[in-house]
Amino acid sequence: MNLDGQTVLITGGASGIGLALARRFHARGNTVIICGRDREKLATAKSGLPGVVTLRADVSEAAGRVDLFRTVTRDFPTLSVLVNNAGIQNQPPPLLQTQDWPAHADEIAINLAAPIHLAMLALPFLAGKPGAAIINVTSGLAFVPMARMPVYCATKAALHSFTLSLRHQAKASGVSVIELAPPAVNTDLGGKGLHDFGEPVDAYADDAFAALAAGALEHGYKFSEVARTADAAGRDAIFARMNPDA
Ligand SMILES: NC(=O)c1ccc[n+]([C@@H]2O[C@H](COP(=O)([O-])OP(=O)(O)OC[C@H]3O[C@@H](n4cnc5c(N)ncnc54)[C@H](OP(=O)(O)O)[C@@H]3O)[C@@H](O)[C@H]2O)c1
Repeated sequence: MNLDGQTVLITGGASGIGLALARRFHARGNTVIICGRDREKLATAKSGLPGVVTLRADVSEAAGRVDLFRTVTRDFPTLSVLVNNAGIQNQPPPLLQTQDWPAHADEIAINLAAPIHLAMLALPFLAGKPGAAIINVTSGLAFVPMARMPVYCATKAALHSFTLSLRHQAKASGVSVIELAPPAVNTDLGGKGLHDFGEPVDAYADDAFAALAAGALEHGYKFSEVARTADAAGRDAIFARMNPDA
């Protein structure tokens, strides 16, 4: 995709992978808009990236997504790239023990309903714009699930599937539909300290950004590239290794 001269909206762009992508779009002179729920995180991100636009928005509810899209397209009619990055990861007790539906519903709303809805809102707006793109951030766990987080993995597998269909439907519009599937990356996803074992966020984002520049429509890195490109037997073997008690 064309990484210059774009107006880019990154959901969840105030931290982690979204912020690392925001930095890279910003460094190339693009107009970058980031959103999230936490004012302090947005302010900290903005202070490190002068000129970046921050918006407080909650994408867990349909009304919040509609408001966000209305505000962005009113103030930035040049919007050309949507990065559906916002996500949460719950660490739930086993399904046989938990009755905590609201937590699962929230994960489905933020990780799956939000990117679908925002893509629906964005597609007609982006259609025909040079360099327009929708980038969905899934996960290596879209391809091989971690059984202790069944709902998180299901949202990412569903978003992978949606991305394939959206890419097909969007062909005539000229909008590129791209999937970034990170491996475990060292961010605060799921809470502080839970992803410290992951790949360094800058190393991941450098590789993903280079792939975007090279025109990739699907990108994985280390574990997620292995999982993404494995055949059925390979995925079964990875599943067995990742879930030894299953
Ligand atoms: N880190 C990994 O190992 C990994 C691996 C594969 C995929 N991913 C995916 O990468 C994406 C980014 O995650 P990350 O690792 O960078 O974690 P992160 O630092 O926690 O980033 C997630 C961002 O999403 C925002 N967000 C969450 N709920 C939101 C809501 N309802 N409305 C608006 N914004 C919301 C958060 O901001 P607020 O809390 O301020 O709203 C936060 O800035 C997620 O989709 C995640 O599933 C991460």
